[in-house]
Amino acid sequence: MADKLAILGGPKAMTVPWPDNGTIGPDEIAAATRTVASGQISDCGRGETVAAMEDAFAARFAARHALSFSSGTASIHGALFAAGVRPGTEVLTANQTWASAITAIFHAGGTPVFCDVARDSFHIDPAELQRKCGPDTRAVIVTHLWGIPADMDPILKAARLLNLKVIEDCSHAHGAEYKGTPVGTLGDIGCFSLQGSKAIVAGEGGILVTNSRRLYQRAMIPGHHDMRLSVELVSPDLKPFAECGGYWKYRISPVGAAIATVQLGRMDELNGNRQGNFDILHRRLRKTAALLTWPKLNRGSRRGWYGTPALYEDLHGRVSRDLFAAACAAEGLYVGRAYSNWYRTPVFQDLKLMSQLWTVEHPNGVKYTPLGEGALPNDESVRQRLLVFPIPPLAAPEFMTQVAGTVEKVAANMASLSRFGAEHKSKGVPGCAY
Ligand SMILES: Cc1ncc(COP(=O)(O)O)c(C=O)c1O
Repeated sequence: MADKLAILGGPKAMTVPWPDNGTIGPDEIAAATRTVASGQISDCGRGETVAAMEDAFAARFAARHALSFSSGTASIHGALFAAGVRPGTEVLTANQTWASAITAIFHAGGTPVFCDVARDSFHIDPAELQRKCGPDTRAVIVTHLWGIPADMDPILKAARLLNLKVIEDCSHAHGAEYKGTPVGTLGDIGCFSLQGSKAIVAGEGGILVTNSRRLYQRAMIPGHHDMRLSVELVSPDLKPFAECGGYWKYRISPVGAAIATVQLGRMDELNGNRQGNFDILHRRLRKTAALLTWPKLNRGSRRGWYGTPALYEDLHGRVSRDLFAAACAAEGLYVGRAYSNWYRTPVFQDLKLMSQLWTVEHPNGVKYTPLGEGALPNDESVRQRLLVFPIPPLAAPEFMTQVAGTVEKVAANMASLSRFGAEHKSKGVPGCAY
């Protein structure tokens, strides 16, 4: 009976709850409390708490400059402006990313150009850079999706040849390294979300790192206050922005900055916990290797964490990925799937809808063109097979052992699961997506 799948009426395999309370500990609470008690809860300039955060991030990522933002999305907007994106220019980005790495292009006045991922990968295909780059393309956004560092060498090579600025979206990959170099410092600018579900958090917040003083200055123009702009914009051509920049208002709260500084100091500890949790899963699931393919890293590279992705193979064409995920959910194991297929969503297909938010067509001829179905075949293939398993930030051997046990249980019952799926399909059960 214990082996009967929960989706068929058996007992749930998961009994250990998600290890409680994320990563906020006494040091974060003390730092936040000190900041609130100081009365400095808003900072128009680069006050002590914000400066401490930025200095700590710059040092940790061996970058010359770090600039804090109210969100990861805002940091991408700042990066794009810094990279010279403006109305009438284009930016290459993958479809397989969070929406912000697409919408921020529009916020900066640019036009996104959707690129496919490399085969069986989560990252933009370097060959797409050559194919999709036009005379008005200024930059490419590379998202290190699900914490796995993109293979940057061919991307950087193609981008340099095409004269594109490279913006790394590291929102899933804090502390990851590509061949020994921290992600975020391989391209021209690295952006990190510090939103509450990320590997390290501010609550809401973001930060950008760069080695270029010029890009750093430019990145603060869209959303930082004139108290900061007037001090830090020193290049003569940028000084006219000092009194009034874009005023999207992208400053971080000092309370969030204080929390993020503590979290950064704990990043290696938290990532180490996640690695240990993943190792439990990986070791236990060797037997199901044909069913789930775990991502491989380049030599000398280190991954970051936002759950862990795996590609599911429907070995005999009997149990779809969605039915497998539904069976896991019934067991109490919630496994994520791909983000929305952004380029097929209404706002990216219907130009009337889109034009309520952003400019669709520019006088120099650059315009957004919706892509038809099947335009990004590798993206589609990965999207249909992707599962994202939860990886807690605290050492959780019992929980992870149960996660592995749940996958094994479902994998051992594929025949009955397949019958269940077929019955549901033939009965036309409403909402059945199997
Ligand atoms: C890959 C990626 N990029 C950008 C963002 C945007 O970050 P934020 O929510 O802090 O604006 C997110 C947030 O989930 C993300 O996952």
